Amino acid sequence: MSNSLFDKLASVFVRRHRPERDTGVDGKTMFDHLADTWWDPDGFLQGIAPLLNPVRSKYFGSVLNDHFSNYSVINILDVGCGGGLLAEELWSSKFSLYGLDISFPSVLCAKEHTTYSGASISYLNSSAEAIPFPHGYFDAVICADVLEHVDDWRQSIKEISRVLKPNGIFLFDTVNRTLFSWLVVIKLIQDWPLTRIVPKRGHVYEKLIRPDELNQAMREHAVIERERSGLWTGANIYDVLSVGFNLKYGNMTFPEAGRRLQLELSPNTWMSYIGYGQKLP
Ligand SMILES: C[S@@+](CC[C@H](N)C(=O)[O-])C[C@H]1O[C@@H](n2cnc3c(N)ncnc32)[C@H](O)[C@@H]1O
Repeated sequence: MSNSLFDKLASVFVRRHRPERDTGVDGKTMFDHLADTWWDPDGFLQGIAPLLNPVRSKYFGSVLNDHFSNYSVINILDVGCGGGLLAEELWSSKFSLYGLDISFPSVLCAKEHTTYSGASISYLNSSAEAIPFPHGYFDAVICADVLEHVDDWRQSIKEISRVLKPNGIFLFDTVNRTLFSWLVVIKLIQDWPLTRIVPKRGHVYEKLIRPDELNQAMREHAVIERERSGLWTGANIYDVLSVGFNLKYGNMTFPEAGRRLQLELSPNTWMSYIGYGQKLP
């Protein structure tokens, strides 16, 4: 059976069951369209928080603490901050924290949320490729699950390096470009009608970045990688399949799925990786 015939039959079958968030947006506009879900307890983008925040806020927090424990104020920029899920979790009164994002509705949502949480974070609508701050302004720059979405990730690295102070820290995590991520992140959960559960083109395979490519680009802009680890779910295969099935048929929310599949540090970089680099003096 040809792929297109198979896809047509499959889409007829799954149409009745497809979760609402599965259609109608693409990767380019996804964050604008879904901005109202950043802080919705059952929302699609809120799912990022339980899936990723525990591991990345612990990891980034400990790197920041190691490098800046004797600072009274640390200037930090969160590039591609979205609705501020990570910025708010990391925020401490010691931070002068800025977040920028290309999605205007996301920035509005992030700003609005600080009125409830009381976090003192300055948000702006701008792009990673043209960061509107002077050279050497920040002690640390965070870019969490963003490089795989920007139009020009190499230009973003150049800009991140430019706004970092000498010895400043660049903290990142992103999706790897591997056969495994092609199968799971692109085909299974996004493309194939029978299995897809997230908006089409939310991730584009060609935009994913291998660790050696990121390392090389950082080095070209005077940022030396200090540490890198894989990110992998702590759940077993039966839990993963059950979560996928329940999401597909609308029996589970994305935040609940995130809690069940929570990522952890791992030697396995098949899917995602996290790490940090330091700008040369
Ligand atoms: C997966 S979300 C991650 C959000 C946030 N860092 C977090 O982890 O909760 C990716 C974010 O990158 C933003 N983004 C995409 N391209 C961008 C660009 N060129 N400049 C700045 N932000 C961008 C999107 O609008 C979106 O909010």
